[in-house]
Amino acid sequence: MLTNEPYYILSANLIGLAFIVVTTRGPFSYERSAGKETVRYNPGGVSTSLSHLMQKEGGTWICWGDGNNDKQHPDEISGNYRIIRVFINDRERRGFYDDYSNSTLWPLFHYFRERIKYPKSAFLMYRKVNHDFLEAVKKVYSPGDTIWIHDYQLTLLPAMIRSEIPDARIVFTWHIPWVSGEFFSSLPESEEIIKSLCTSNCITFHTELYVRNFLDSVSQITGESESVRGKVHSIPLGIDYSYYHRKSEALQRSPFHGDQKAIFSVDRMDYTKGLTSRVNAIETLLEEHPDLSGKFVYYMAVSPSRTHVREYRTFKSDLEMHIGRINGRFSTISWVPIMYMNKKLPESSLIGFYRFSHVALITPLFDGLNLVSKEFVASSRDGVLIISKFAGSASQLTGAIKVNPNSRAEMAQAIYTALNMEPEERRARLEQMKKDVSRHNSTWWIRRIKEVSRRG
Ligand code: UDP
Ligand code: G6P
Repeated sequence: MLTNEPYYILSANLIGLAFIVVTTRGPFSYERSAGKETVRYNPGGVSTSLSHLMQKEGGTWICWGDGNNDKQHPDEISGNYRIIRVFINDRERRGFYDDYSNSTLWPLFHYFRERIKYPKSAFLMYRKVNHDFLEAVKKVYSPGDTIWIHDYQLTLLPAMIRSEIPDARIVFTWHIPWVSGEFFSSLPESEEIIKSLCTSNCITFHTELYVRNFLDSVSQITGESESVRGKVHSIPLGIDYSYYHRKSEALQRSPFHGDQKAIFSVDRMDYTKGLTSRVNAIETLLEEHPDLSGKFVYYMAVSPSRTHVREYRTFKSDLEMHIGRINGRFSTISWVPIMYMNKKLPESSLIGFYRFSHVALITPLFDGLNLVSKEFVASSRDGVLIISKFAGSASQLTGAIKVNPNSRAEMAQAIYTALNMEPEERRARLEQMKKDVSRHNSTWWIRRIKEVSRRG
């Protein structure tokens, strides 16, 4: 898979297709244990979507070298693109990643006010690590390049680049929700962050609502938003539809056993994903419809995430307690309602689950977009999608059953409806969504990003 062939990058740059992409999480990391090196593919929408894209487009990808053996691979060629890794020590990781990115910004931008923490000196570490990324950018930048920065971990980078490379073309893509101006301005560093983002040539979000909230924040903090309005765009991230379609069509056998209907979900272990509400809805469903006992299985895959952050560990224990309680209450000698898998699923298994499940239950409390819902639509044979109205992708997925994840009754009713939906209706809803997801795919997304970045 990995090559040492610099020719591909050169050719991509020469024909003007390449970006310098900057993210925290890279496509994969190297781990060494018991004398053996393995490659760990990173979960999360930003790294999976950009991996597909970079393979097609070429370019340079600057990211955090978080694997314990990444230092052996500071600069490498992976297929069609180059990866450059930035290294930070444990103290920097705590301040930049665990604390400021994931205990301050992440809960803030998902409206979890009670979870927001302001750990001492975290912002200083955040600034320091953003500066480390600046140094990496400066090493590879040539005039004419487009620097494409992603997400909430790197908000200070645009201003840092602007002050050192004044005419750089900077595109910033925000992948999580953007909250109301009032809520955002409760962050002590809101002014520095928003001013930095506004030094980008263009800023893209996944929904119109986030664009409106961003402009609202700009006007609340700086007093006017007219000067930035033209460079802020809603361009929802698309997936490589034909890839999922092709891979799923090639599958002959279902991974599920027995004749029970399969309900499926896959998420990172994150309190924003609505996992507890979901298992509670299964409880309500079985209370209201005891005849469903033994008729379905909920396959719940949850991949480990941010395990250094205490909130995430506590959340995991809580969730597992709920699953245990509900399974204990409703299981029989031959049936368990919730089949919980706490591991990252390889893409090959994931596509099989998407293809053959009867129902996909994707109900985050808040989510910037949610790629899983689109991957399900591209891969499914005749499944029903239940989606939270607070997922960024919900407005595009018109054939889905939309739910409020805070209502157990509504969720239970949606699952019941999905399990009993007639085949014609299932197919019609899915076809409608397949059309939209294939039209607004990753090729469409990158074309739109290029259009607005040329204009910006
Ligand atoms: N993913 C995966 N294996 C897992 C869990 C997730 O490959 O066990 C991938 C999934 O296919 C998707 C991404 O991780 O491409 C998750 O993106 P999404 O936007 O749904 O959520 P995020 O994790 O970014 O919040
Ligand atoms: C979300 C964020 C990404 C992040 C991903 C995985 O999709 O928008 O920026 O990379 O979650 O989280 P992690 O902390 O493992 O990078």
